Amino acid sequence: MYRSFTTLMALGMAAAAPFVPRQDAPRKLLIGTPAQIITADFNGASFTVTTKSHQPQTAPSWMIYREPNLVYAVNENGAEVNLFTLDENKANPTLVSTATGASGVVSLEFNEEKTRIVGASFGTGSYDIWDIQQDNSLKLLKNVEIPGPPAPGQETHRAHQALLDPSGRFFVIPNLGGDSIIVVDSESDSYAITNTVDVGAGSGPRHGDFVSLNGGSQATHYIVATENSNQLVLFALTYTGATIEFAEVQRLSTYGPAFPPKDPSTAAAGELVIANNGRDVYVSNRLSGNETDSIAHFALMADNTGSPALHFVDSVSSGGILPRMFSLGKDAQQEIVFVANQGGNTGVAALKRCPDTGSLTEEPLATLKMEDVIAEEFVGTPNVGPQFIQEI
Ligand SMILES: *[C@@H]1O[C@H](CO)[C@@H](O)[C@H](O)[C@H]1NC(C)=O
Repeated sequence: MYRSFTTLMALGMAAAAPFVPRQDAPRKLLIGTPAQIITADFNGASFTVTTKSHQPQTAPSWMIYREPNLVYAVNENGAEVNLFTLDENKANPTLVSTATGASGVVSLEFNEEKTRIVGASFGTGSYDIWDIQQDNSLKLLKNVEIPGPPAPGQETHRAHQALLDPSGRFFVIPNLGGDSIIVVDSESDSYAITNTVDVGAGSGPRHGDFVSLNGGSQATHYIVATENSNQLVLFALTYTGATIEFAEVQRLSTYGPAFPPKDPSTAAAGELVIANNGRDVYVSNRLSGNETDSIAHFALMADNTGSPALHFVDSVSSGGILPRMFSLGKDAQQEIVFVANQGGNTGVAALKRCPDTGSLTEEPLATLKMEDVIAEEFVGTPNVGPQFIQEI
């Protein structure tokens, strides 16, 4: 998008341009803040907010989109999952139905066939399985509590994310309260826990992602960002038939060697995303104590023994504080990273990503000011900005 924008600029400046190039359609974004679902357009150089849909008392801190116009949104402050439809401009969410499951759900994921949704409950340390086959509306199939005591010093298990593995059979759930990762088997609607991976005392695994370095449909590796120890943990995976086994390969600081947090006592790693190229790994570093927080970039590369390892590349400002979530654009080259900051002056930023190097440009292509994206009732309250952003 950035490239086509500069091309348009160059053509626009040439007075004798013989034709008007086609203007790419704007990208459509879904943004969640406490008490609001926001839709916005991004044209490569600026954002236009198309809807600020007030959802009082709710926190749509995670949403999943299904073509052509369906949005499933959690209410992190309650126990509902809400189904909305969007209009033809992917704006104006209309509430269709509401279903009640575990409280404090913070992540939703479809199964391969998009007949089920798994919801991870941070509040209760459990996960919900929803049947969405009938009218797309949500029918609770089961809720599974993570068994056993939580990790020492933790009140409860806390399921933080549900992520479908590339084979389409297993969901992997980082359990922040258990210092563990659980593997859930979707086969025959079992959704039973088939493996519990110890991530280490005091780690607090939060969000992760898969990578398949041999191009196969099974992931070869998984990387998780830990919120309490601010680490990236790289695991090599083995599919046994009944589950996925995890073997730890490497563990390193989410800040890399060059940019330590000003305040390590508050630092809390947030989102983790691996680019389509299987090389570039991004992690958001929150509450660093610095003027703004940051997104660090690591490269997953083979070392001289031939086994892959993570290497710190660089780090850029997120433009604000508490970048709870960021996501890569939908284009194949993933040339834009969209960032949601809960605090600071910049609520939303679009950063240019170089597809060749994977580096992000610090100066944003476009931003939305915090005051323009928070709900009216929260004016003057800190850290009530965007919690979620996704191109749809
Ligand atoms: C954050 O602050 C620490 C301590 O002052 C400093 O060493 C580090 O470089 C800063 N990080 C960034 C990204 O500027």
